[in-house]
Amino acid sequence: MNLTHRDTAAVELMDGPCDEARLFTTYRRFELANRAVSGWRGLYRSRIRPLLSPQRQTTLLDVGFGGGDIPRALAAWARRDGLRLDVTAIDPDERALRFAAETDREGMVRYRRASTTELVAAGERYDIVVSNHVLHHLTDASREALFADSERLARRLALHDDIERSRLAYGLYAVGALAIAPGSFARTDGLISIRRSYTAGELARVVPPGWSVESLPRWRVLAFRAFETPPAAAPQASTSRSLSAVLSLSKGRPRSGRLEGWSLRRLRSGRLEGWSLRRLRRGRLEGWSLRRLRRGRLEGWSLRRPRRGRLEGSAPEEHR
Ligand SMILES: C[S@@+](CC[C@H](N)C(=O)[O-])C[C@H]1O[C@@H](n2cnc3c(N)ncnc32)[C@H](O)[C@@H]1O
Repeated sequence: MNLTHRDTAAVELMDGPCDEARLFTTYRRFELANRAVSGWRGLYRSRIRPLLSPQRQTTLLDVGFGGGDIPRALAAWARRDGLRLDVTAIDPDERALRFAAETDREGMVRYRRASTTELVAAGERYDIVVSNHVLHHLTDASREALFADSERLARRLALHDDIERSRLAYGLYAVGALAIAPGSFARTDGLISIRRSYTAGELARVVPPGWSVESLPRWRVLAFRAFETPPAAAPQASTSRSLSAVLSLSKGRPRSGRLEGWSLRRLRSGRLEGWSLRRLRRGRLEGWSLRRLRRGRLEGWSLRRPRRGRLEGSAPEEHR
């Protein structure tokens, strides 16, 4: 199997007319595959949970929900953590809606048959927009539309997560998915998905300005963008004593990121939502030069305090 280039001519069986019973079994099997490799527990802990609050409702939109296991898991994790998260999930495929109606007995997620373009036209907005395994399904034009729509729909954060194409992933899935193949399209479509999916380099070349792309463990690739919080929803520094901050770097075209959930040690040695510290040093953090930040205070915290502790009070966790 030649995986040097994306195989955009390969079409997944679930994307056409197919046996609905097998499709529903495929949705169930994808839930197992998602739990094993998709890493949404890690994304929830490191990127979504730091934005949630027990008092203030946060809204999240999942695009292309398929079997709906990921929006259901996000809603359940937030509820378990005592955080208010209102989850809406959309898919253009009416069969996904039928499956969700049968499966989600708890009604934790609002499912709708809709496209992102329709939501934009209706003027809808969500704090967080996510998708899983959708990018590789799309034509170039639909991918561009998804990113453009995400920019209009998301107030704070957009995360589009997918498989990263690799020979090893293909080989391992070909063997590992034998267990979930019977009665479903999970193995056939999973292998086609890997052939259609991007490498991190390929995706980085096609995302619009302002977006970042990262390779994650277990052959995952994430395209993400943090947006500036509108003033009405901005964290109240004086009351929350939050170190959450909007980072705007003036070098080159303006970009933005968030400073949340990072220990200072990681922050120093590592990356801040895709930005190296070297770039951060050249930039500005909410109107503070880094020199001032080092000497001074950021949103009510002295630097001495966070040095001993953690920013935003929660430790980032590795993607699992
Ligand atoms: C492989 S499934 C992934 C389902 C689910 N997100 C998961 O991770 O298991 C891809 C889903 O994307 C949906 N989809 C395809 N094109 C789309 C588009 N332009 N916008 C939103 N969803 C789309 C399909 O209907 C399908 O349900």
